[in-house]
Amino acid sequence: MHKSEASGEPRQQGQVKMSTRGVKVFYGDNQALHGIDLDITENEVIAFIGPSGCGKSTFLRCLNRMNDTIPGCRIEGDVILDGNDIYAPSLDVVLLRAQVGIVFQKPNPFPKSIYENIAYGPRLHGLASRRAELDEIVEHSLRRAGLWDEVKDRLDQPGTSLSGGQQQRLCIARTIAISPEVILMDEPCSALDPIATAKIEQLIDELSASYTIAMVTHNMQQAARVAHKTAFFHMGDMVEVGDTDTIFTNPKDQRTHDYITGRFG
Ligand SMILES: Nc1ncnc2c1ncn2[C@@H]1O[C@H](COP(=O)(O)OP(=O)(O)OP(=O)(O)O)[C@@H](O)[C@H]1O
Ligand SMILES: [Mg+2]
Repeated sequence: MHKSEASGEPRQQGQVKMSTRGVKVFYGDNQALHGIDLDITENEVIAFIGPSGCGKSTFLRCLNRMNDTIPGCRIEGDVILDGNDIYAPSLDVVLLRAQVGIVFQKPNPFPKSIYENIAYGPRLHGLASRRAELDEIVEHSLRRAGLWDEVKDRLDQPGTSLSGGQQQRLCIARTIAISPEVILMDEPCSALDPIATAKIEQLIDELSASYTIAMVTHNMQQAARVAHKTAFFHMGDMVEVGDTDTIFTNPKDQRTHDYITGRFG
């Protein structure tokens, strides 16, 4: 059982960390999102669900400007992080992606050692001045990702020598190492077995104490287990968003109802 509220105190309503207003995305002439308004609260886990092609990954990528890297992709509307427009021309995108980290579906360690996978970002961002400090960040990040005990004796081995589930935790550790505020995850468990999946879900729950997490998942049980809020997307629209329990037991919109009861998707 995950989700902090299930095991203890009810969650406090926090501050809005990120919000989007009227976000539209076009790939050439094809419009993938039709104006998304969403508030993401600090320290919440929010799940994005919906049928394939409805725009979940496109929306997630808007939140740290990963769509910038796709030729022909154009965005309208506002994405606000802590009151600041992340599409402002003066914004430093490298810094933004350190504040809003992303973990992909397929684990993608750098072709470097386990140690260097974690140390690379902090070194790039000047977070450590001495080797001992860097060592500390590496250990701390791997501990937070629940991987330290499994890798502490083989830090010089390639990241790619780890199992799939370990590689995904390595990628999460790599994201944590640069002290992000928001972590985006696009189907982080879809390439993993049930045991590795359970570990990542546990980790997401623990991380939500310190970070704001937005994740795409096709697994509705997973959304129900880990997400405080769930947003349902359909054909480029966000149909509804609410407490996960409400979305799954008492959705307002017929399309949400049909999707969660398996009528399409
Ligand atoms: N790089 C791209 N170039 C052109 N069109 C794209 C690109 N990425 C996505 N699209 C289009 O945008 C729409 C939304 O795709 P997106 O990948 O965001 O959906 P999704 O909800 O994440 O789907 P899935 O569940 O299959 O991952 C689709 O029509 C897709 O074809
Ligand atoms: Mg996707």
